[in-house]
Amino acid sequence: SKGAALVTAVAQRLASRKRQVDETLSSFKLSQEQLQLVKARMRAGLEAGLKSKGPSAIKMLPSFVYHTPDGTENGKYLALDLGGTNFRAMLVNFKKSLQQNVRLYHKIYTIPLEIMQGTGEELFDHLAQCIGDFLDYMGMKNARLPAGFTFSFPCEQTAIDTGTLVSWTKGFKATNCEGHDVVSMLREAIKRRNEFELDIAAVVNDTVGTMMSCAYEDPQCEIGLIAGTGTNVCYMEEVKNIEKTELQKGKPEKFKGTPDGEQDEVEELSQGAAEMLKMCVNTEWGGLGDDGSLDDIITPYDTEVDQNSVNPGKQRFEKLTSGMYLGEIVRQVLLDLTRGGLLFRGHVTETLKTPGIFQTKYLSQIESDRLALLQVRSILQQLGLNSNCDDSIIVKEVCGAVSRRAAQLCGAGMAAVVDKIRENRGLDHLNITVGVDGALYKLHPHFSGVLQKTTKALAPRCDVTFLPSEEGSGKGAALITAVARKKKEI
Ligand code: GLC
Repeated sequence: SKGAALVTAVAQRLASRKRQVDETLSSFKLSQEQLQLVKARMRAGLEAGLKSKGPSAIKMLPSFVYHTPDGTENGKYLALDLGGTNFRAMLVNFKKSLQQNVRLYHKIYTIPLEIMQGTGEELFDHLAQCIGDFLDYMGMKNARLPAGFTFSFPCEQTAIDTGTLVSWTKGFKATNCEGHDVVSMLREAIKRRNEFELDIAAVVNDTVGTMMSCAYEDPQCEIGLIAGTGTNVCYMEEVKNIEKTELQKGKPEKFKGTPDGEQDEVEELSQGAAEMLKMCVNTEWGGLGDDGSLDDIITPYDTEVDQNSVNPGKQRFEKLTSGMYLGEIVRQVLLDLTRGGLLFRGHVTETLKTPGIFQTKYLSQIESDRLALLQVRSILQQLGLNSNCDDSIIVKEVCGAVSRRAAQLCGAGMAAVVDKIRENRGLDHLNITVGVDGALYKLHPHFSGVLQKTTKALAPRCDVTFLPSEEGSGKGAALITAVARKKKEI
């Protein structure tokens, strides 16, 4: 009958639509072999970065943090945190007797886009203004507090309190900052303001701050991970493996030239010397692939996102795995499917052409299992996208494919890091904790699960515990400041 024929025709059309969508999304599916390859490339990148004196895809920046906290830290510190769209000022009070009772007060300031992309002087003047406001609010303008500065961009450090910005990431492009010491820039801005004084004792990457704050609670924490606007990892590396810098010179006489594996020598070292055997390295793993090593897994959608960014060709791994870019990848796929008539009845709207509409929080909501399709439709509606039921199924599938790949890639990277640490220590089996922060990890319904599963599958000889940090990078910066100050006093 006519009716039956119509039903068959509709069913066929749906089946063919599903096939085409599946085909598009298949480029985001990674096999175990491909993930193993990513792990191997991450490992090779870490090794190359540790050795290379010149530029390398993975920068492996020494942090001058030699050990995790020992619980004796105390006093009041100011923690300043610039990393994404916000600047945070925080007062941290460590009390010796009540370790767990760290008190925090903080205020968040947004950084307007024109300041993120204006001049360096304007950016740092803005920070000084925010700090002034916070000190007023706390009634501490005359306290000359010791401060730690969490600055979540790649910095070349030669000491705990200097850091030369190598290159902006995550959409920042303020002029006259790259190649300059960000601590001096902040000090100068504070001087220009002439309202208060600060003793900036440390500059810290957010991964390092996160690791330190988690290590305060769990001494097994020797890795810090950020899965948020950007992505990055730091971990405790053996100083003898950090060949790129002159760290070796600072080493105690006895340790110089100690061949690998001569444990006796090492054990005889004085306490002070033994403390210098490890250093936290900020990997800047987001740069993996900047030398083309990920070209075989990069899709045309990724290329489009990279080309539209403020730093094309840079941070290729970060652009596959972090919050700032996942929504953009999703949007590129939706655009393609719509142009192919598979979505939104083939109507490419202005909304769909607008960069930045899919923030991490929407991806997280769309992928939530508790959400009925009707609610997915209403989120899309809020974003100005009129969808029918099939459309919302497809959008959810696209989000799932993109975020799953991100989590798997992070897991493959993490597997490389934990296996490296395990081999460094000559262990068959390693137990280790990773301190984690970032909205993608904390808010996305599936990211953390897939990350953990992938890490386990690719590094079966490591037991990795992921510990979400609270107020991580700020508290960590305060801890590092406390240690730096203690050193100065001795
Ligand atoms: C970017 C920055 C890095 C930071 C990460 C997470 O990758 O280059 O320094 O740790 O974002 O915020």
